[in-house]
Amino acid sequence: MKHSLVLAALLASASSVYAADDSQRQTALEDLGRALFFDVNLSLDRTQSCATCHDPARAFTDWRAVVAGGDYGRSGGPSSEASPAAASMGGDMKSYGDRNAPTISYAAAIPPFGRNAENDFVGGLFWDGRAYTLEAQAGGPPLNPIEMAMPDKATVLSRLQENANYQYAFKGLFGADIFSDADHAYDAMLQSIAALERTEFFSPYDSKYDRYLRGDYKPTEQELLGITLFFSNQFTNCNKCHQLQQLPEAQAETFSNYTYHNIGVPVNAALRAINGKGSDFIDHGLLEHPAVDDVAQDGKFRVPTLRNVAITAPYMHNGVFNDLRTVMQFYNKYLAKGSKAQINPETGKDWGTPEVAANISNEELEAGRALDARSIDALLAFMHMLTDKRYEPLLPAADSAQ
Ligand code: HEC
Ligand code: HEC
Repeated sequence: MKHSLVLAALLASASSVYAADDSQRQTALEDLGRALFFDVNLSLDRTQSCATCHDPARAFTDWRAVVAGGDYGRSGGPSSEASPAAASMGGDMKSYGDRNAPTISYAAAIPPFGRNAENDFVGGLFWDGRAYTLEAQAGGPPLNPIEMAMPDKATVLSRLQENANYQYAFKGLFGADIFSDADHAYDAMLQSIAALERTEFFSPYDSKYDRYLRGDYKPTEQELLGITLFFSNQFTNCNKCHQLQQLPEAQAETFSNYTYHNIGVPVNAALRAINGKGSDFIDHGLLEHPAVDDVAQDGKFRVPTLRNVAITAPYMHNGVFNDLRTVMQFYNKYLAKGSKAQINPETGKDWGTPEVAANISNEELEAGRALDARSIDALLAFMHMLTDKRYEPLLPAADSAQ
């Protein structure tokens, strides 16, 4: 999307905000959020925006390709040989993080960090829930040294003030003296980005699955089998973690109950070799959350949504698996007897030891029957159905429903 067009729209909606009603104000807020989301000036080297790592062309994930030798290009994508990065390259064009950029489609549905009725941790943004809300989350990347790398809030705000459209919109929405207080102005920026993230553009609920629930799409037999298996208590365990609502097949299901589990994901050694973390580094997941010090939370990550999952490879918090089918085979490690289930088809070796061996949710992971090839195909077909309408052309043909 051309940033100049986004800014022009911002100017148009901000003009009306001075004499606005609530809905005009809301539109102007979202337009400001959109301009900020796509603005590379929020990063020190003016190289990356939020959309760089959360590209709306690919369900708001980072699909920039990492090619041999660590070169950087945009040649990735569904039909290219290059595979998307497991972790994102920072604005300095050389630093790498250690976690896979999650989709932020449907992130608006993630509840604030807290505890549920069973006293388990739920919600919060980031794989470890350390940002309580979308607003709090959006404040992180601009100041993160290996992401947008701005030294402080004042520098971010002076960047914004370089642009007359921002001056106009911020003052219209938040008051003429908004830039006189750095904390307030920074919060205003976060509010605008979060307002955008709560729009339908991020959560359209228009996948084949949603259309099926509304009676506008007739599923194939394989898709129907996938739906049945997914929600079944007898055949699979998926719904123990990937179902939010009480009733199966409810509208606006996001396919995560937002609790935290350690499912025994192995270290991504290839990524660690690139990002310099070293072989003894451990990502403790929820235990990295500043408000959590209970070792029983070590190695747990927030259950991710399955919406758009068919187009958001690679998978898991560290992007260790490239193929959605591999993820299904990984679950068989817990479900299937026999040595074949212990081999990772992507490496030809065993699955590798879990990054954190403690606290694995064995009870849930071992509930259910082994997934045979037919069930895996059906579950894949089901997950393909969870793709927002505008991304359907991106679905990989290789494991599409037959
Ligand atoms: C350099 C790449 C990069 C940039 C730039 C970036 N992000 Fe992210 N984003 C990530 C990664 C990686 C994570 C996961 C990090 C973690 O869990 O510790 C993430 C997580 C998130 C999440 C949490 C999603 C979830 O499921 O918990 C949201 C929301 C988000 N980013 C929004 C933004 C916004 C808004 C901006 C711009 C202000 C932004 N990001 C800039 C890489 C990036
Ligand atoms: C014990 C809870 C639990 C169960 C049971 C479970 N999952 Fe998961 N799932 C998770 C967690 C937690 C993650 C992220 C783990 C990580 O990154 O360390 C995950 C990751 C995934 C991913 C990768 C998503 C991404 O964006 O990287 C897919 C796909 C998935 N699960 C599908 C399923 C299916 C299908 C089933 C049933 C066969 C299932 N899961 C059963 C908790 C569970």
